[in-house]
Amino acid sequence: MRYKFLPSFVKRRGRITQSQEDNLKLLPNFLIESYEDICREKTNFSKLILEIGFGNGENIISLAQDNPDTLFIGSEVYLAGIGYLIGEIQDLGLVNIRINTGDIRLLIEQVEEPVFDDVLIICPDPWPKARHHKRRLIKADFLELVHPIIKDKGELFISTDWENYAESIEEAITSSSGYGLLTKSSYQDSSLTKFQKRAVEEGRDIYVFPLKKLIK
Ligand SMILES: C[S@@+](CC[C@H](N)C(=O)[O-])C[C@H]1O[C@@H](n2cnc3c(N)ncnc32)[C@H](O)[C@@H]1O
Repeated sequence: MRYKFLPSFVKRRGRITQSQEDNLKLLPNFLIESYEDICREKTNFSKLILEIGFGNGENIISLAQDNPDTLFIGSEVYLAGIGYLIGEIQDLGLVNIRINTGDIRLLIEQVEEPVFDDVLIICPDPWPKARHHKRRLIKADFLELVHPIIKDKGELFISTDWENYAESIEEAITSSSGYGLLTKSSYQDSSLTKFQKRAVEEGRDIYVFPLKKLIK
């Protein structure tokens, strides 16, 4: 099978627990698969935010708890993480999280309007080997792809814990005319995700790129 996009992730089951497996049976209740799904689901909320690659969902859960009027769409392909998030949604009684389980770029392509107030990407897969850099999600073409779906003056928040990835993200931003760097973002004060915690434990810095969408 030929992929439209070079995969930016390794699709793995991971170690999945029985309760995560059970939670996955509830996935259809949360699933967003098309632009029409987004339009239908967002009607009762004042804001709409997309988090790409939510991992185990620490960040999206905390934001959804703090912002009940905002609908959060979380994107992830990692089944154990999706199962874990569904368990948390149930336990906490959250009604403002929906889930997309494919390569997010396939959904972004379908979106016809700037519907997202903000888009967040925390610790995208670093692909540290030089021969794999082409698989990195954050490149100039991705910045172009995501630009039309963000509202004017909306935010694209990116963070990485890999210095070399941070350098290439900086280059991609410089080559794009669609974004300006903000001095600060509320998203950088969120509690740390699993990958951010690991970076801190291993003594690596976290590099943040709070970008404001500019009108081209
Ligand atoms: C390094 S993990 C970080 C997870 C989490 N944000 C954290 O900080 O703990 C990156 C995640 O992004 C997901 N991912 C990568 N490319 C993606 C894509 N194109 N669409 C959706 N998810 C993607 C991967 O499955 C992976 O779980």
